[in-house]
Amino acid sequence: MRVDRRSVLVAGTLLAASARFPAFAAAPAKPLTAAQESRIAALIRAMTLDEKLGQMTQIAGGRQIALNSRLDAAALDRVRAGRVGSFLHVAGAEPLQALQRVAVEESRLGVPLLFAMDVVHGYRTIFPVPLAMAASFDPDVPRQAARVAATEASVSGLHWTFAPMIDIARDARWGRVVEGAGEDPYLGARIAVAQIDGFQTANLAGGDAMLACAKHIGAYGAAAGGRDYDSAELSERTLRETYLAPFHAAADAGVGTMMTAFNDLAGVPTTGNAKLVRGILRQEWGYQGLVVSDWNAILELMAHGAAATPAEAAALALRASVDMDMTSDTYADHLGTAVAADPSLLPLVDEAVGRILAAKARLGLFDDPYRFGDAARESAVLGSANHRAAARRAAERSIVLLRNEGETLPIGRDRKIALIGALADDASSTLGSWRARGQADDSVTLRQALGEVANVEYVPGAAPRSDDQGGITSAVAAASRADVVVVALGEDYDFSGEARSRSDITLPGAQTALIEALRGTGKPIVAVLMNGRPLALEEALTGIPAVVETWFLGNESGHAIADVLLGQVSPAGRLPMGIPRRSGQLPMSYAHAPTGRPANPDLSVDSARYRDVDIGPLFPFGHGLSYSRFAYSSLEVSARDDGKQTRFTVAVNVRNTGSVEADEVVQLYVRVPVAGLARPVKELRGFARISLKPGQSRSVTFTLGSDQFAYWDDGWHVAAGEVECMVGASSDDIRQTAVLTLPRSYAVADGALAGAALATGVTIG
Ligand code: NOJ
Repeated sequence: MRVDRRSVLVAGTLLAASARFPAFAAAPAKPLTAAQESRIAALIRAMTLDEKLGQMTQIAGGRQIALNSRLDAAALDRVRAGRVGSFLHVAGAEPLQALQRVAVEESRLGVPLLFAMDVVHGYRTIFPVPLAMAASFDPDVPRQAARVAATEASVSGLHWTFAPMIDIARDARWGRVVEGAGEDPYLGARIAVAQIDGFQTANLAGGDAMLACAKHIGAYGAAAGGRDYDSAELSERTLRETYLAPFHAAADAGVGTMMTAFNDLAGVPTTGNAKLVRGILRQEWGYQGLVVSDWNAILELMAHGAAATPAEAAALALRASVDMDMTSDTYADHLGTAVAADPSLLPLVDEAVGRILAAKARLGLFDDPYRFGDAARESAVLGSANHRAAARRAAERSIVLLRNEGETLPIGRDRKIALIGALADDASSTLGSWRARGQADDSVTLRQALGEVANVEYVPGAAPRSDDQGGITSAVAAASRADVVVVALGEDYDFSGEARSRSDITLPGAQTALIEALRGTGKPIVAVLMNGRPLALEEALTGIPAVVETWFLGNESGHAIADVLLGQVSPAGRLPMGIPRRSGQLPMSYAHAPTGRPANPDLSVDSARYRDVDIGPLFPFGHGLSYSRFAYSSLEVSARDDGKQTRFTVAVNVRNTGSVEADEVVQLYVRVPVAGLARPVKELRGFARISLKPGQSRSVTFTLGSDQFAYWDDGWHVAAGEVECMVGASSDDIRQTAVLTLPRSYAVADGALAGAALATGVTIG
């Protein structure tokens, strides 16, 4: 259904009364069969209001760190009474099959339960954190990670993961940047779609797939000051072009569920935002999937000041089209009161229940409620050798070489290495912030891996969580005995993630003192950064010739880093978020507007910059070095108009001019220089990670449509005129340029994908 955009503004009053049961409109999702639709309709007719509200209720069966710990007698009685539709923080084939049996055999209507968990970057086999996998600039990496995670989680009885987190974030003070794909909506949309594909596959009922959840719609990553849960104050243009683009792409890719954000957007709490959820997501984009609130967020509508009573909060969330209440019991306990006062809410309850039952049907749970979970296979599947191999490959591909002066890296096999820093042997931190059932004992640290293959003396020196400088003397002594110093610096895993915002993102603890002391030894130093967010490291890294960003890389962390340090693998990751010089530069993005007085290095000129810090980031978006070198040539563009939009090709040749086989990430940026309003100085619109032997050349051809240059101005518009096209190795290393011409101005149809949500075709010759 397409609606007039203006009518979306009052979407709360535009609610379709019909309770047609959702067929998934998005591309790869199979529509429900007629039999499934009529079964769902019959169930809804048979349900009491309490049973309907039960379906709309998700309760915690445990805690994140104590799964299943709340599956007590009261919880089981609730299942028997049909007063719960889903559990989260539960796991395990046996306990979940037993729990499902209670729902199916002991409740009046026998509706199966949905079992959910945050399976974010692995279940038992832990992959790099999502920000790291985005740095691979290879959507196949997060796709494979999601595939492995879904295989492991589904054999353990889970149906639904709260991933991917696809919030764009331009402020690294926000601790949740670790969970997303960084600052760019184009990269974010591609990574989002890849993860959805990996979790869901083409057959959700196949038994080794799971429902994905795109979260947290709409501008959670724009929280003021980088403070988690805080308000987002955005123009509709920025909301549409930047923050919503990955969500539109996810809806189009058939993501089964979405989660609303905790925060408010321009004063409207998202969980009660009818304009956003029922309006943009459902009516404008046609999204039919299940929408779940975040934890306790429906009740928190009162804390926001949007509702006076729990019944008002429940009605607000329902009107916004939030189908399921995560843990607050506001629907279960108070939506009945709201419905009694206003019976027009009842069709909305039926719609919500229909979407929840549709999700269960798509998983095949009405045909076989026990198809997920296989206790006999669980131990063979979890942490299998194949899964470990995939995790190692993902870790290798996520590492970013930031600086390599004088070819400090790779380190020669005969060198004596002083390995310093507590993070180098912190197995727990390799697991990142969402560790599901991952175990620190399964992780290989840098100390272990490097110690197996090189001549290493390890000294902790300093740790992120301690101001104790007592270990620095022995670190300096070890450095003096070595040929090269490798120092692990950064944050431990618990500095980033939910509610882990920091105002000053420099090195915590005694690490600054440690690096200062090591600099004093005069030895060549390799800084190995371990962190869940970009840190502000200008001062810390001054004079350090080699710097490698390794994030938190999962179980195979140590092996992957050692392979890069010793040259077994040439690094090719790229930054999915720029690294600031100082915390005070945030928020920032390479894709800023030009301004009337662009930043000028000359301080006597009044310009858009800080006086006390150099212009721009320390390392820009898209930056990453290699052990080889690449030459770009022969950029060619062509255009063809099909009457609706103009199709462009942008082709470039890339040659490995170095002496080792290596990957290069070819990046395409565009800029519309004149559009009647200010457009970003650069926007990513394509990338390709290619592998080249020494001397080898390849062509990379990007295929775009003019809808990808659309901007939001109360609707998507394309303006006739020129588009600057920039191809290079990072947002700050453009090697070739060309100009495309948009022949016509036009408006993109309401609800159609536009801008960063659309994918560019890539052909490698
Ligand atoms: C709160 C977080 O914001 C959300 O991302 C997560 O999925 C839920 N808790 C459930 O753990």
